Amino acid sequence: MNKTIAIIKGDGIGPEIVTEAMGVLDAVAAKFGHTFTYRDAPMGGNAIDAFGVPLPDSSLETCLSSDSVLLGAVGGPKWDSQPSANRPERGLLKLRAAMGLYTNVRPARMFSDLSAACPLRPDIAARGIDFVVVRELIGGVYFGEHSTEEVDGEQKATDIMAYSEHEIRRVAHVAFQMARKRRKRVTSIDKANVLDTSRLWRKTVTEVAREYPDVELLHMYVDNAAMQIVRDPSQFDVIVTENLFGDILSDEASQITGSIGMIPSSSMGEGTRGLYEPIHGSAPDIAGQNKANPIGTILAAAMMLRFSFDMAAEADAIEAAVDAALKAGFRCGDILQTGGTLVGCREMGEAIRSRI
Ligand code: IPM
Ligand code: MG
Repeated sequence: MNKTIAIIKGDGIGPEIVTEAMGVLDAVAAKFGHTFTYRDAPMGGNAIDAFGVPLPDSSLETCLSSDSVLLGAVGGPKWDSQPSANRPERGLLKLRAAMGLYTNVRPARMFSDLSAACPLRPDIAARGIDFVVVRELIGGVYFGEHSTEEVDGEQKATDIMAYSEHEIRRVAHVAFQMARKRRKRVTSIDKANVLDTSRLWRKTVTEVAREYPDVELLHMYVDNAAMQIVRDPSQFDVIVTENLFGDILSDEASQITGSIGMIPSSSMGEGTRGLYEPIHGSAPDIAGQNKANPIGTILAAAMMLRFSFDMAAEADAIEAAVDAALKAGFRCGDILQTGGTLVGCREMGEAIRSRI
């Protein structure tokens, strides 16, 4: 197969980790007889420096006309003083909306070779951590009206949180379909004791659930969920939640696996084109030093093959190569506490590539 992939290297460690992921994709292409054509799409702080905006139209066009998009990470202190409408993150939010990517999937799974890095008590971790957070990605307070005004001699800021039924329904369907392929349990997370958006969320998810009688549906308040994720993560299979709650809970979920540098994510809408990225940030403090862990991005590339290109065997090959490299003892700095040999970003990429 021939596939074009828009490449957003981004800022900080972004270019290093994406380069390693492209190397792994090339190894897959060679082994399975595919051709991947890469098209550069600048976004983030580097795009602000070069074009004055975080997402130039030409980059958006490249993403919209490619078969899928692979992203490293955007942002950094250099652009912190940009006006809020021109921050690197705005490029990412604009891209998500323009591509219609309403579902963000972030797996929280513990790698058996890395269990020593898990910050939870061993008896809790031993019950298993293997769930996915399905986050609504282009609605809610992220995309409501934002304003700051002068009222009665002081500044007043407002962010509107809004959800329509169709926005809830479509992401709920994704969660139930995913649960069908897993352990058949959906936990919908809201704040229905306080928020109208959450009451509509709960009602709509409950309606969608009727179409999936084989899947169990539980509802949980977000504050309780934050607690349950560290108290007993084994109770979760598929979590579905709105944009802001999902942002917060997915960081918590990744941290309990002990390896935020290893976790990929997919963002999808209708159709097969998606945006794939590691869930960690641009880590400017270690940028350009060959210290970053490329595994999150490499596993994001595997997700792209599986979900956008329907290449299950190829995705399996990448995941097996990552497992094999870990078993062989290769460790980047962020996961070194689990024992093994310290390697840099390039060496980890090579260790994985050579095991494809
Ligand atoms: C994420 C990030 C983004 C978000 C930022 C960079 C805008 O935290 O992908 O989780 O809040 O969605
Ligand atoms: Mg986040």
